[in-house]
Amino acid sequence: MAELGTQRLQPDAAGLSSAAAILRGGGLVAFPTETVYGLGADACDDHAVARIYAAKGRPSFNPLIVHLPSVAAVKELVEWNDAAERAAQAFWPGPLTLVLPLKPDAGVSKLVTAGLDTLAVRVPSATVAHNLLTEFDGPVAAPSANTSGQISPTRAEHVLGDLSGKIDAVLDGGACAVGLESTILGLAGTPTLLRPGGVTLDQLTQVLAAPVTIRDDAAEISAPGQIKSHYAPRARVRLNATSWASGEARLGFGEVDCDLNLSATADLTQAAANLFEFLHRLDAGHAKIIAVSPIPNTGMGAAINDRLNRAAADR
Ligand code: TXA
Ligand code: MG
Repeated sequence: MAELGTQRLQPDAAGLSSAAAILRGGGLVAFPTETVYGLGADACDDHAVARIYAAKGRPSFNPLIVHLPSVAAVKELVEWNDAAERAAQAFWPGPLTLVLPLKPDAGVSKLVTAGLDTLAVRVPSATVAHNLLTEFDGPVAAPSANTSGQISPTRAEHVLGDLSGKIDAVLDGGACAVGLESTILGLAGTPTLLRPGGVTLDQLTQVLAAPVTIRDDAAEISAPGQIKSHYAPRARVRLNATSWASGEARLGFGEVDCDLNLSATADLTQAAANLFEFLHRLDAGHAKIIAVSPIPNTGMGAAINDRLNRAAADR
């Protein structure tokens, strides 16, 4: 595929058919999901999947999520169980990823799982994602469409600003509604929250009617992408700022005076939807430090704080 330019495709019938043809030819297409933009490739094509790792500069021991248009398509790839059935009924299509035992004959590239015997699967709800997956009619591996370690993209412009020339196309579907990556739930053994995200821990516990273990970062990296420094803007990030120093870019929450406010009404869902977009914007303003108001750790706040802590971690 051409390295010269990255095509910007409209998510109409012609654009979707071009995008699916690029995927069939082993190319890379960024596409909008309800969480963030994904960088998609044919999950059964080793060469195409290798190109994802190359374009992102991603360590190849960090496995990818496979995206599918329906639960029926998911069941062809993984061993299903009761907990998966409950979670899928409640949250699919939507911002939840399930990690389940990989069927030996699934045909998914070993590069997707990084050699693990489990597979991360998700059925996105965004119309453009769903239409692309239906048109392509096969599993699509897609990490977030950003250089490894940087802020995830929630608009086509973010993708182009970062990966233009390294990928074949981006389907432009405007802004992502949730704005934070999917929640990852491990269901190959005891239900384990591997990454907080668009579906909250309370929601999961309720639907599974069973306790959900929270993976301890320090113990082991079972979602290897959950490395400490991640989602990092160029600027340093200062958390829990209750006052501002001069020269800092001010990212507020609630009734505060600031440069950009994640949610003036202290709405955590709105704050999640704005988080990456605002970090991208403040970073473009060349501030050396981005100071962020405290965010309550309830509901979606847990996922917001997870991303902010990684953005603030030592690099
Ligand atoms: O919302 C999302 O999940 C977005 C959109 C594009 O779907 N994708 C995304 O992918 O955030 P990525 O690659 O940035 O994060 C995938 C995470 C990584 O932390 C990876 O380690 C974990 O999923 N993962 C993938 N396969 C796994 C597996 N078999 N077991 C445990 N963790 C896995
Ligand atoms: Mg990512």
